[in-house]
Amino acid sequence: MSVADAATRRRSTSKVTAEAPSHDELLEFVQAAATVADHSELHPWRLLEIRGDDRLVVGRALAEASGAEGHAADKLTEKALRAPLMIAIVLSPVESRKVPEWEQESVASGVAHLLSLVLDDAGWGVMWRTGLWTRSPGVQAAHGLRDGEKLLGWLYVGGRRDDREAKPRTLVDPSRFLSTLS
Ligand SMILES: Cc1cc2nc3c(=O)[nH]c(=O)nc-3n(C[C@H](O)[C@H](O)[C@H](O)COP(=O)(O)O)c2cc1C
Repeated sequence: MSVADAATRRRSTSKVTAEAPSHDELLEFVQAAATVADHSELHPWRLLEIRGDDRLVVGRALAEASGAEGHAADKLTEKALRAPLMIAIVLSPVESRKVPEWEQESVASGVAHLLSLVLDDAGWGVMWRTGLWTRSPGVQAAHGLRDGEKLLGWLYVGGRRDDREAKPRTLVDPSRFLSTLS
């Protein structure tokens, strides 16, 4: 399958099963995703592999940041359990006179997009999620982020269910998005 075919076929999967890629499988996927264009090869990103009860650390931080209490807080916390594996995407800027932070964030974002595609192509269900509180101090702290680092959200990863084919993608009219200067 060509890369264009894989991209066209990719669909986010919001409901996944309890199966997840192993740590070793994930290492292979990350190695592939790390090939995105990267000005000066700064590698200004890192990923956190969050499984099991560690997901509740994220869920609780999100619930706390939202100010929800009681049942509402429990519901928000449980959202982190929607997939067996969460991959937190972290922008980890590198000091550079040549490459500003916005370029580095583009690289981190590109890694997340390519990793989504690679996971999808390997048969896994993936959905990139964020939310209003992604960059709140408590949520950043729950991930142990260092000074200057920023979260770009989480890839929720799990097993794909058989009904996936039910949602074919409607392709855009590319001529709407491609023009010239004049
Ligand atoms: C940075 C980023 C954050 C996102 N956050 C959410 C989110 O919090 N909730 C959500 O339902 N979709 C979110 N999405 C969109 C989904 O990941 C997905 O792209 C969308 O449901 C469309 O499905 P598709 O990827 O199959 O086209 C986000 C996408 C990106 C790139």
